[in-house]
Amino acid sequence: MKILMVCLGNICRSPLAEGILKSKVSSEGVLVDSAGTSGFHEGVLPDKRSIAIASMNNIDITDQRSRKFIVNDFDNFDLIYAMDVSNYNNILKLSRNEADAAKVKMILNESYPNQNISVPDPYYGGDDGFKNVFNMLDEACEVIASKI
Ligand code: 4NP
Repeated sequence: MKILMVCLGNICRSPLAEGILKSKVSSEGVLVDSAGTSGFHEGVLPDKRSIAIASMNNIDITDQRSRKFIVNDFDNFDLIYAMDVSNYNNILKLSRNEADAAKVKMILNESYPNQNISVPDPYYGGDDGFKNVFNMLDEACEVIASKI
């Protein structure tokens, strides 16, 4: 099973989603990666605030570097989780066929089915936003891990 987490910058939300899911599954059976729909932060570490909230929860995400989502990701992953509705629409625009499109899901639909709730973008906010994002993603990843 190969799972890709996607947000806009791949520095705040999707690196947390990647780190949290990795902490809940065996690395032998599941490959987890993350990417951003923009290439704004290509090659850089996750945001300090994401590193901090992960670390407070005993998760190290400092091995991650931002990268842009590419069309090949549809071939390389079984499931592609969008953090928000804008990411979801941008990924779908790149899909080549129905099989590609069927791989794309809103991550919070795992914890709140059919509600299409977005993980709020915490980039311009304070530390509380990152804590909130962590908790939402932890809940969703718990459901994902329980199904694997
Ligand atoms: P992310 O957050 O999509 O969760 O990584 C953002 C990071 C950077 C920007 C926006 C959102 N930015 O505009 O640079």
